[in-house]
Amino acid sequence: MFNKLSLKIGLLFFVFILIIESFLFFILYTNLLNDRIEEVMDNLLARGNTHRAVLEDNFESPTLEHVGQMESASDFAVIITDPTGNIIINSDPIEQEMKEVIEHTDYENVPTEGEIVENRWTEKKYLVTDSPITINGEHQGHVFMFAPTNNVKKIVGHLGEQFLVAGMITILLTIITIFILSRFITHPMIKINQATEQLGLGKKKVELDTGRKDELGELANSITKLSQDLDQLKNERNEFLASISHELRTPLTYIKGYADVISRPNIPEKKKGEYIDIIREETEQLTELIRNLFELAKMDQNKFVIHREKIVLGELIHSLAGRIRPAFAEKNITFSVSCPEDTIVYVDTERFQQVLLNILDNARKHSYDNGHVSLAVNEMNEDIKVIITDEGEGIPKEDLPHIFNRLYRVEKSRSRKSGGTGLGLAIAKEIIESHGGSMEVQSKLGEGTCVTISLRRGCKDE
Ligand SMILES: Nc1ncnc2c1ncn2[C@@H]1O[C@H](COP(=O)(O)OP(=O)(O)OP(=O)(O)O)[C@@H](O)[C@H]1O
Ligand SMILES: [Mg+2]
Repeated sequence: MFNKLSLKIGLLFFVFILIIESFLFFILYTNLLNDRIEEVMDNLLARGNTHRAVLEDNFESPTLEHVGQMESASDFAVIITDPTGNIIINSDPIEQEMKEVIEHTDYENVPTEGEIVENRWTEKKYLVTDSPITINGEHQGHVFMFAPTNNVKKIVGHLGEQFLVAGMITILLTIITIFILSRFITHPMIKINQATEQLGLGKKKVELDTGRKDELGELANSITKLSQDLDQLKNERNEFLASISHELRTPLTYIKGYADVISRPNIPEKKKGEYIDIIREETEQLTELIRNLFELAKMDQNKFVIHREKIVLGELIHSLAGRIRPAFAEKNITFSVSCPEDTIVYVDTERFQQVLLNILDNARKHSYDNGHVSLAVNEMNEDIKVIITDEGEGIPKEDLPHIFNRLYRVEKSRSRKSGGTGLGLAIAKEIIESHGGSMEVQSKLGEGTCVTISLRRGCKDE
């Protein structure tokens, strides 16, 4: 029940609170105690002073006896002496301690208003005050008042008991509070820990109580999200592996099939050449597929570095256009370019060309004969847009959201005529995003496709 963290938090709190409480209790206790003792002493002195006042008015034997009688009935004791300390009258039997006090008093120097002559309540049996009887400016005698320290000790004992009870209750309440508090903090942590352990053991999704609004709530949310992402990632990986093995198997089947056919006797030389061409084509495709996969793997591992340089976009595009025009011409497709002369971009030239080539190649593959493809560069306030439009077959609505997925092709049959690897757009998107840009595709089936690349303006270092 008491896991380690809550024990640690609890103990730490407890020690701190105990120290603070002890300190406060100690101050309170000593203050109260001193007040009490002072009160007792003041009362004693006041009582002695009252007797002294009576005696100053009437310093005669009957009055002295009266005072003695009065105190013999009380808890206190009184001893009245002459100016030099000879006992005139005493209310109670004189004890050794009383004698000592009387003997040790410095009679000359007692102030008229009286003084406390013994206040060591822990060591002595009596607290003592001395009120000198002053008549006509001369000391005529001394009133010694004795209060047994037992009473004080009783008061102190009682105070101690009260403090003990209060202290116990405080400690109990502290323990309960700390227990509840530490559970409040550690309980969700235990839950989170268990959840992550389960994730480690292969459980697909964990649901954590995400009702809390504090840091622990956020942590729980993050872990729930993480588990969902992990699950999605696993699914994607499985799908991806399935697609790859499919993609690899198809060309290999072709290659093996045609190789088998060629090795048969009596195959005309012309046919042999045809089959060898097919095998070469399939091998090239396979090589391309593996190269692309490798590229994507590098991107995933963040080993993919782009080397930006400052280039004039127009120049890059015109040289590119020159390279691909012959391919467009084969299908009699016209290709138009519009780009401001002075547009500067900071890109990895080779990668950026790769992106444009892929998009233009897609446009060519999916355009009808005699069609038209255009490339336009628009400079906006914050970014530069490269828009490639074709009037080809377009992409069905339901395929559009998946177009950037790896190995995704609208034409699933992988015909050798139109079949690419389905990795081109995925790679293009990764490249553009690693430049801090974005890519989107709009398309209408039968009308054409428009691919927009947005590059942030900005500098080389970005
Ligand atoms: N301009 C376009 N018009 C119609 N369909 C397109 C267009 N561009 C892409 N597509 C569809 O999107 C799919 C994915 O394109 P992507 O470039 O990723 O792969 P690919 O061209 O098939 O293969 P690769 O580029 O790797 O050789 C294509 O198979 C195609 O079905
Ligand atoms: Mg492509």
